[in-house]
Amino acid sequence: MDKKKNISMAVIKRLPKYHRYLGDLMKNDVDRISSKELSETIGFTASQIRQDLNCFGDFGQQGYGYNVSELYSQIRSILGLTKVYNTAIIGAGNIGQALANYTRFEKLGFKLKIIFDINPKLVGIRIQDIEIKDIDYLTDYLKQNPIDIGILCVPNNSAQKVCDILIKNGVRGIWNFAPVDLVVPKDIKVENVHLSDSLLTLSCLLNDIE
Ligand code: NAI
Repeated sequence: MDKKKNISMAVIKRLPKYHRYLGDLMKNDVDRISSKELSETIGFTASQIRQDLNCFGDFGQQGYGYNVSELYSQIRSILGLTKVYNTAIIGAGNIGQALANYTRFEKLGFKLKIIFDINPKLVGIRIQDIEIKDIDYLTDYLKQNPIDIGILCVPNNSAQKVCDILIKNGVRGIWNFAPVDLVVPKDIKVENVHLSDSLLTLSCLLNDIE
């Protein structure tokens, strides 16, 4: 696990794609694959793949390629997918409800335990059999039920306040959908998801400057 500390953010960002492709290869009973073959499906260059995978072990063998299941399990371990994370969604509006309805996160080990909202009209409603609770109950709940990841789907003006409560009560990871730069202590990990950034990237590509 020490090796993980030396892995660059750029490599970490590519790992989910390796995980996805190697998972597909396993499903198709592929035992081994060369960096060239992997490159043809995954879209990274063969030398990029060799460099990336060298970061966390000696998997490739000249003339043999990579052992798919070994590599897959190593990547799962580096991605922290060998354990289960308890998650809570805060804000059960459009995004919160869409995420709560997406059950595939649970297959990856992210278990949605509870949903909170401030709107009394939403409190009591069930999504995928999980009841939406009143936000006033958040602190009490967290004190009794450890949550690893808080999924922030509240409006901008509430995001920092809710984030502070989560952190104060033991949450160490924030998956932030609100377009706000959260201020958090160093040991807290925040991953921001901004769909509009991705859309603007597409717009930029469509309007290639000559
Ligand atoms: P929404 O208005 O449908 O849902 C927000 C929910 O948060 C509402 O149900 C509201 O009652 C609840 N809420 C408000 N204050 C709260 C508090 N203090 N505690 C608990 N619940 C509270 O909004 P939508 O469309 O789901 O967007 C949610 C957030 O995501 C917003 O910050 C929005 O700007 C952002 N957003 C992010 C995108 C992305 O790509 N990450 C894309 C679109 C929106």
